[in-house]
Amino acid sequence: MSLLPILKFPNPVLRKKAKKISAIDGSLQNLVSDMLETMYDAPGVGLAAPQVGESIQLIVVNASQEEDGKDSMVLINPEITAKEGNQVDEEGCLSVLDLTASVKRYQKITVCYQDMAGERHELTTEDRFAVILQHEIDHLNGILFIDHLSTLKRTLYKKKIKKMLAKK
Ligand code: NI
Repeated sequence: MSLLPILKFPNPVLRKKAKKISAIDGSLQNLVSDMLETMYDAPGVGLAAPQVGESIQLIVVNASQEEDGKDSMVLINPEITAKEGNQVDEEGCLSVLDLTASVKRYQKITVCYQDMAGERHELTTEDRFAVILQHEIDHLNGILFIDHLSTLKRTLYKKKIKKMLAKK
C-alpha cells in the first residue's frame, strides 16, 4: 500500500467525466487500498478516483458515525437514482485548498452502485452521509463543491488560487 498524491484545483483531470468501470481486477483492488490509506492519512471522509489521477467511476468513503471510527465503503459506478429535500452544510475538499463553504444539497438520496465483488446495491441515506456521497459522486462528473457556490464566491476563490500559484 502507498499514499497517493492528491490532485488540486485547477488540475484538468478533476474536470473530466470519469469512465465507467467494467473490470474489477487486481489493479483496481490495489488502487482501492491506496485510496483508503490516502483518505485516512489526509485525513478525509471521502475520496474519488479522479482526485488521485484515475478518471474512473470509483469512490471510497468512511461511513462511520463515530468521531474517530473507520467504516470503509467502496462504491463502483455509483449513480444517484432518487433525491428529495434540501440541506445546507459546511464542505471542504482535499482537492480544493484553503476553503470551506456552505453548500446546498439534497437531504435524502438513493444511490445504486457495485461493490468490489461486482454485486449491485441500492442505498438510501440522508443528512451528513448523503452530503458526502453527493460530494464524491460530483467528482466523477467533473464537478467540485465550489461549482455550487455563488459566482462571486467562486471568482474570489479562483483569484486567490491564481495568486498562490503565481507566487510559487
Ligand atoms: Ni472533494
